[in-house]
Amino acid sequence: MRRALIVHASRHGGTAGIAEKIGEVLRSEGVDAVVAPAADMPDPGAFDACVIGGGVYMGSWVKEGTEYLDRFASILATRPVWLFSSGPLPGSSVAKNPTADPIELALGPADGPGSGGRKKIEALSAVIHPREHHVFVGAFDPKDPPKAMSERLVRMMPASKNLLPAGDFREWPIIEAWAREIAAEVAGPVPIG
Ligand SMILES: Cc1cc2nc3c(=O)[nH]c(=O)nc-3n(C[C@H](O)[C@H](O)[C@H](O)COP(=O)(O)O)c2cc1C
Repeated sequence: MRRALIVHASRHGGTAGIAEKIGEVLRSEGVDAVVAPAADMPDPGAFDACVIGGGVYMGSWVKEGTEYLDRFASILATRPVWLFSSGPLPGSSVAKNPTADPIELALGPADGPGSGGRKKIEALSAVIHPREHHVFVGAFDPKDPPKAMSERLVRMMPASKNLLPAGDFREWPIIEAWAREIAAEVAGPVPIG
């Protein structure tokens, strides 16, 4: 049986929930899937494929996610890898343009001010060569206290109501369909030679 590792860097649980769902779908499709937080630094060496997802805050992945990609980049480069970002909140002022590039909606522009978080992911992707980087809409519960000073400050801004609509917007059918595509590739026939 093929083995897949699903790693998540999540601050408030939204990204972890997506990772758990991907693991569930992979298992239902005959893949031995293990789900783990990036902070545990699970070694991808024992797996045939990896899916790694990061929650996005102010244009950057939760830092354990980029630390994970950085630490295991050379191993990840030798096997199929899929990345996902869990970010945009529908209705937020940044997500109002439905034609915008999803990566740009989540991680910001490719260059100039606010491009640092995206540049980091792109530099790591240039080494790892993921098959895809998918963006899923996320979740925000204002009752869950902030877990970082920067988050506390953003939440205190008067404009944060427009930037951060409250709710769980995770699109389970889209997440499941993506996981099934991955399962088909991971559980596919073993290449000969
Ligand atoms: C303070 C704050 C800043 C955020 N910044 C971004 C952002 O820059 N881009 C984005 O796509 N989503 C942003 N989001 C939305 C989160 O990425 C979304 O809520 C995600 O599901 C969080 O994942 P987690 O629950 O795994 O931490 C932000 C949310 C908060 C609370």
